[in-house]
Amino acid sequence: MPRLQLSTWQEVDAYLLTRRDIIMPIGSTEQHGPNGLIGTDAICPEIIANGVAEKSGVMVGPTLSIGMAQHHMAFAGTITYRPQVLIETIKDVVASLTKHGFERIYFLNGHGGNIATITAAFSEIYTEASLKGSNRPFRLKLQSWFMGRRFRALSKELYGDSEGSHATPSEVSLSYYAFPEHVKRAEMSPKIAPRGVIRDADDYRRQFPDGRIGSDPSLSTVEHGERIYLASVEDVTEDLKAFVDEA
Ligand code: NI
Repeated sequence: MPRLQLSTWQEVDAYLLTRRDIIMPIGSTEQHGPNGLIGTDAICPEIIANGVAEKSGVMVGPTLSIGMAQHHMAFAGTITYRPQVLIETIKDVVASLTKHGFERIYFLNGHGGNIATITAAFSEIYTEASLKGSNRPFRLKLQSWFMGRRFRALSKELYGDSEGSHATPSEVSLSYYAFPEHVKRAEMSPKIAPRGVIRDADDYRRQFPDGRIGSDPSLSTVEHGERIYLASVEDVTEDLKAFVDEA
């Protein structure tokens, strides 16, 4: 499986002679409730990207592990960018990759809060290409690892109404599968966390005192994580292939 971080420049040159696609995992560094790892949103797309690479031979770039986490800043350990900084980061990453000849750049996302800003970054990049003209053809795609049909069916089967939307048992299980030596146990009170609207950090902590939204991550296990991994790797492999084969 070709990983950019573990390749030499000659190996990247050779890869580019045969194909032009790359996956860039993108996540966040933010609290994930009483038993979830701070790195969950970066760990999940990274392990799935590596699984997709094993199946399909696509190259995987370094994980962009800081994203849009301002609403989690009332919890220790969270690191956030401002939207503008993430937009500029993605612009530079895309400009670097396209300069070398990558033409299909697939951002595999692990954090719902990143979607608006990554989409805005794509808009900036395409606008620049439209106004200035770009010397190389390229296409971008944003997909979140938890959007595929196999994964969604499985999470419904495993967790139903306990899935929620932040610090979900699905993402916590997947991170436990990646790092079984870091499984944590905690009592959840209430069992299923409240739901609500996301605004600023202090407001978030008032509404969601232990960090979870709508979820019961005490259901998380390494075994579930393995099933989630296999389902999502299949979902993403299929989606990546459609993107790469698109005329
Ligand atoms: Ni998350």
